[in-house]
Amino acid sequence: MTLTPFRTRLLGLAACVTLAAGLTACENDNVSANADLIAGKKAFAQKCAACHVLARAEAKGVQGPNLDEAFRQSLKDGFGRDTLHGVVHSQIIHPARVPKDSPAYMPAELVTGKLAEDVASYVAAVVARPGKDEGKLATAVAAAGSGKPVAAKNGKLAMPADPNGQLAYLSKEATAPPGALEIDSENDASIPHDIAVEGNGVDEKGETVQDGGVSKVSVTLKPGKYEYYCTVAGHREGGMEGTLTVK
Ligand code: HEC
Repeated sequence: MTLTPFRTRLLGLAACVTLAAGLTACENDNVSANADLIAGKKAFAQKCAACHVLARAEAKGVQGPNLDEAFRQSLKDGFGRDTLHGVVHSQIIHPARVPKDSPAYMPAELVTGKLAEDVASYVAAVVARPGKDEGKLATAVAAAGSGKPVAAKNGKLAMPADPNGQLAYLSKEATAPPGALEIDSENDASIPHDIAVEGNGVDEKGETVQDGGVSKVSVTLKPGKYEYYCTVAGHREGGMEGTLTVK
């Protein structure tokens, strides 16, 4: 049997609980009673969702492991959600060592302090849980790509990446008149994105950008329907696409 980083870590943590029961370091692994799950969910959407699947958070990233799958087995094996909180928190602060230049690299301390606790509490509370978040949690994060259709102005179409960091653009629909069009996609997230447009013989893509960069693509479009999407692996499949209607 091969041990995934998660399972290796879980074994280490279980040992901690057995050997050192009563030590506060281990007690801190409990899901905190004063955790702010709403803040945790918002930060998860912004900092984690682009790389991980977590059904309750509607997160569809594929660069990192599917968190529902990764933890489902441990829950079945009898590990409590308080233990998962500790595993997630320690992964946030000290991700398993994957070479920095690997495409599957998780940066350390994407969130810190109380917020890291909140993110860990949210993940531990909802991971591998069927159904949907309820109450205030349900509306904590706007659905990805739920913005109003965007219309081109003066030959330019502004279609930023989802401001919440999810795998989506601001909107899944756009319109433009026929002719020359520049599509600008600003990406404020730390996860790289680009924008490409395809259809009716057109197939162009802008450069990959992050941290406030703008991916630009210039095309000449005839009336008809085109698709715009992010070419970064797994992002289109995760929902980062939309339809541009030219008329
Ligand atoms: C740039 C992509 C990326 C981002 C952003 C990211 N992760 Fe990860 N994550 C990974 C990769 C790759 C792994 C597997 C390698 C490793 O363990 O470091 C991973 C592993 C994990 C694991 C262990 C799961 C297992 O099966 O071992 C957890 C838990 C986790 N991430 C939670 C988070 C949380 C919470 C955030 C947000 C604070 C986050 N990740 C942000 C890429 C990412």
